[in-house]
Amino acid sequence: MHDKGRSKEDIFNDLNKFHSMDMCYDSGKILGSMCTKPDPIAVEAYEMFLETNLGDSGLFKGTSMMEVDVINSLGNLLHLDNPYGHIVTGGTEANIMAMTVAKYLFEEEHTGVPELILPKSAHFSFKKVLSMLSIKPVFVPLNEEYKIDVSKLDDLITENTMAIVAIAGTTELGLIDDIKNISKIAYSNQVYLHVDAALGGFMIPFINMDREPKINFDFKCKGVSSMTIDPHKMGLAPVPAGGIIFRKKEYLEKLAVKTPYLTRDHQTTLVGTRTGASTAATWALINYYGKEGYKKIVDSVLDLTKYTYTILKDMKHVHVVHKPELNLLSFISDNMEVDVLQERLLEYGWRVSVSEYPHAIRLVLMPHIKKEHINQFIIDLKNILNE
Ligand SMILES: Cc1ncc(COP(=O)(O)O)c(C=O)c1O
Repeated sequence: MHDKGRSKEDIFNDLNKFHSMDMCYDSGKILGSMCTKPDPIAVEAYEMFLETNLGDSGLFKGTSMMEVDVINSLGNLLHLDNPYGHIVTGGTEANIMAMTVAKYLFEEEHTGVPELILPKSAHFSFKKVLSMLSIKPVFVPLNEEYKIDVSKLDDLITENTMAIVAIAGTTELGLIDDIKNISKIAYSNQVYLHVDAALGGFMIPFINMDREPKINFDFKCKGVSSMTIDPHKMGLAPVPAGGIIFRKKEYLEKLAVKTPYLTRDHQTTLVGTRTGASTAATWALINYYGKEGYKKIVDSVLDLTKYTYTILKDMKHVHVVHKPELNLLSFISDNMEVDVLQERLLEYGWRVSVSEYPHAIRLVLMPHIKKEHINQFIIDLKNILNE
């Protein structure tokens, strides 16, 4: 820190330099992120509530009411009449909260080492869960469609099974596990089931609006105990905005800690001080767009994903790994290693990511990606693969 303060002009000159080094979503070059440019309405709401602290929610009654309202809206979107939860920093925190609750519930009746059944398609936040909470992982195999092989699940359940995790929109491929049948198994074995719909939570309900049969992935499946749903992914909210929803009040209350010096006597979040701005932004978004507005956004990213898939599928030297279910696509090439291709694309300015299983180029088509970006991407990809 300098002894004396600097002028605002000087500071903003430096800030501009830092800012210019960052990539921006408007460039259309960020093809591997699950976040996107926050919606202007969300930014306005966020700024309005910058000084709020939901960690001391008695001071910020309005923001606190908004959080309840947002949780109710998200719960209802996921077919739960009386949801309990919070707006948190993201999917990682939401998953850690769910697994902490599952562990506390397990420990009420068991003394063994808790086991978590999860697929290897689970997000790496579960690696954090396993080490932080000292839980033993039990990996359920994936089927040939890269989804949980439901036929293997029953045999993996033991008296030490603490929970099952299933994914509605896998991080690497955007695929949706067979939650309906996984839920049946969890329910009949009385095992806690957490559905990580960090990405899919803000897409699948809108896909379901004109789809028959519907994709069953939420609390409609009675074995589902909790869900992650992130506004800062397809909800268009600024970072940080994750969501955790519990089926029962007593689940959330497992996290309650007394808070003697604050305006409320207990907290049920992992973090203490936390912004209410994320809640305000999410509240503004869900009221501004409603289901119809979100459906239009989801339809448009899915149309673009389909368009890209159709081109890639017929392209020389390219093999698409799977038919997209959400807005993710992945492919390999028969004449270039995945990592080399990723580097070559970077030389053209494209930030694509790489999936681990299977090892492939991974594209995420968020709302900041437009058709012209995809057309240019395809030209560059052809150049690279044919040069
Ligand atoms: C399925 C899933 N769960 C959890 C997370 C973690 O979310 P965050 O990075 O917001 O903590 C992600 C992130 O991409 C994800 O795709």
